[in-house]
Amino acid sequence: MMKLMAANWKMYKTRAEAVETARLFAELIAGRLPADREVLLIAPFTSLFAVADEIVSAPGVFLGAQNFYPAAQGAFTGEIAPDMLLDAGCAYALAGHSERRHILGESDEFVGKKVAFGLAAGLSMVLCVGEKIEQRKAGELRQVLTRQMEAGLSEIAPDADISTLVVAYEPVWAIGTGLTAGPLDIAEAHGIVRELLRLRYGEKANEIRILYGGSVKPDNCGEIIGIDNVDGVLVGGASLRAESFAAIALA
Ligand code: G3P
Repeated sequence: MMKLMAANWKMYKTRAEAVETARLFAELIAGRLPADREVLLIAPFTSLFAVADEIVSAPGVFLGAQNFYPAAQGAFTGEIAPDMLLDAGCAYALAGHSERRHILGESDEFVGKKVAFGLAAGLSMVLCVGEKIEQRKAGELRQVLTRQMEAGLSEIAPDADISTLVVAYEPVWAIGTGLTAGPLDIAEAHGIVRELLRLRYGEKANEIRILYGGSVKPDNCGEIIGIDNVDGVLVGGASLRAESFAAIALA
C-alpha cells in the first residue's frame, strides 16, 4: 500500500507563497521519494490552479482541497463544488477536519454527505476523525471514533468504489499543540479505525489508508509511520515550510 504523506496548509499562504513552497518542495524531493510513498499538498482554494501547475511534473505529488459543498452547483453563496476542485486539478479533498467540526460547527451528518458526494464526484476523500482531550480523559475514544466513522461513511452508496477513501485520525488535543500522541495511543486509535472499517467493508478495509495527524514533525515522523495501521501522515504546521515537509515526506 502506498503511504500518503499529506500537507494541510489550512488558511495560510498567498498564491505566490503557495507556489514557492510547492516549487521548493518538489525540488527537494525530486528523485528521492521512495517508491512506496505519495505526497498530497492540500492548499487554499485561491492557490489550487497555480500549485497544480507547479507540481504537474512532480511524480507522486498530488493536489487536494480542504473543503467543498456537497452539491454539483447551485445557490450556495461562498461555497465551492467538487467539480470546481477537479477542474483545478485536485485529486483529493478533506472532510470532517476537527477545525471545521469544532470551530465551524460542521455536524457528523454533514461530513457524511461530503464524503459520499465527493467520492461519487470522483475525488479521493479523506475523512478526518479524532477525539477531544475531555473525551479521551473520559475513556470515550472508541465511542467518538465509532460515531464519527459511522456518520462519516453512512451516506456512501453500497456499490460505491471505496478504494480511494482515506481516513485521518487526528486527536484534537494534538493538533497545533506540539503534543504528539504517543505510539501506544496512535496504535490503539488506528486499530479501532481499522476494526470499524473491517466491520463495514470486510477485507477491502485493509486497502484503506489511515493517516495520523497531530504535531507530526521531521523528528517524530519516522517512528509514527512505522506503527501498525499507520499508512501516512497529515501535517499542518510542519508542512508550511518546504524544507520541513520534505524531511517528513522522506522520513
Ligand atoms: O490536518 C492536519 C493538522 O490538523 C495537524 O496540524 O499543526 O498539529 O501538524 P499540526
